[in-house]
Amino acid sequence: MSRIAFVGAGRIGQTIIYSTLMSGVASEATIFDIVPNLPQRFKDELMHALAASGINTKINATNSVEDIKDADVVLISAGKPRKADQSRTDVFKDNAKIMMDFAKTLPKNNQNALFIMVTNPVDQMASVFMKYSGKFTISSGAQVENTRLRSFIADRLGVPVNSVDGLTGGEHGEGLSIFWDTVKVNGRPFDEVSKGVLSREDVTKYVKGIAAQIIGVMGGTSWGPATSMRDIIVSFCKDQKRVMSISMPLKYKDEVIHMSRPTVVGNPIGPTIEKSLSEEDQGLLNASAEKMYNEYKELLKTLSA
Ligand SMILES: NC(=O)c1ccc[n+]([C@@H]2O[C@H](COP(=O)([O-])OP(=O)(O)OC[C@H]3O[C@@H](n4cnc5c(N)ncnc54)[C@H](O)[C@@H]3O)[C@@H](O)[C@H]2O)c1
Repeated sequence: MSRIAFVGAGRIGQTIIYSTLMSGVASEATIFDIVPNLPQRFKDELMHALAASGINTKINATNSVEDIKDADVVLISAGKPRKADQSRTDVFKDNAKIMMDFAKTLPKNNQNALFIMVTNPVDQMASVFMKYSGKFTISSGAQVENTRLRSFIADRLGVPVNSVDGLTGGEHGEGLSIFWDTVKVNGRPFDEVSKGVLSREDVTKYVKGIAAQIIGVMGGTSWGPATSMRDIIVSFCKDQKRVMSISMPLKYKDEVIHMSRPTVVGNPIGPTIEKSLSEEDQGLLNASAEKMYNEYKELLKTLSA
């Protein structure tokens, strides 16, 4: 049983907290947000849900970041969400300033925690937090896109979702890579099973575009990504060693960047297993690393502007 802290209790934060606590993995949860009374009243809601479900979790609710102590996992979803017409990088500067503040306050009381970034642009926010805190940080990365890929293919081909495998990686969002050699239906290659019914283009369009469509209608994504975040937390806390497309730190030239790669998620986290991908898919990752590095370097300049 683990001590889990949640920084940010907005739309995605609340959904992640609910999903995680309902899994029963947390012995103690700390919920922090700057909005007065929000963590406290959300705590009440959660206590009622946990009582109905017979789950015993001690919940601390606070408006002070200093109250987050001795956590095994600190998940950060505080910050500005993007609007439907904004890219994730549009919110970089504002959210990076918040991460630089957290980098000063969170590590000292949480020396042994795994830090998981959710705030967008998620890969760059993980890099900013790790750069300024010195703490090992991952981001939820493209794991949610794995679920978007598998569920769309299952729906369109009319097969059970558990019969569809497939991994994505590189950049979370519009720059994502789908590793087509890993996409299988009942163990058979995607192209063979989907012929005449569903194309790679249809799948790519859905996986990359569905978040913006959800944001346009519902104001933000929450349930889909939150369930992936829960899975990452549970796999780490229970050392399940599930292979997931989380965003791992990667030393690239003079910076540590974060890029999603298939990774064994246990305690400790790793290793990444991109070497088991086809040569073509590894090529996509190499191209992503260069692109993400260049974009990150440009974004870092905005912090001193
Ligand atoms: N990685 C993903 O897959 C994914 C999915 C959904 C949302 N997100 C990102 O998560 C972030 C939050 O999205 P949301 O929809 O929950 O937004 P939201 O506005 O509903 O919630 C953000 C919360 O952060 C809090 N907050 C802001 N600054 C803070 C600070 N300095 N200290 C403590 N709390 C602070 C706000 O009070 C608010 O409750 C956004 O950046 C969004 O783009 C990422």
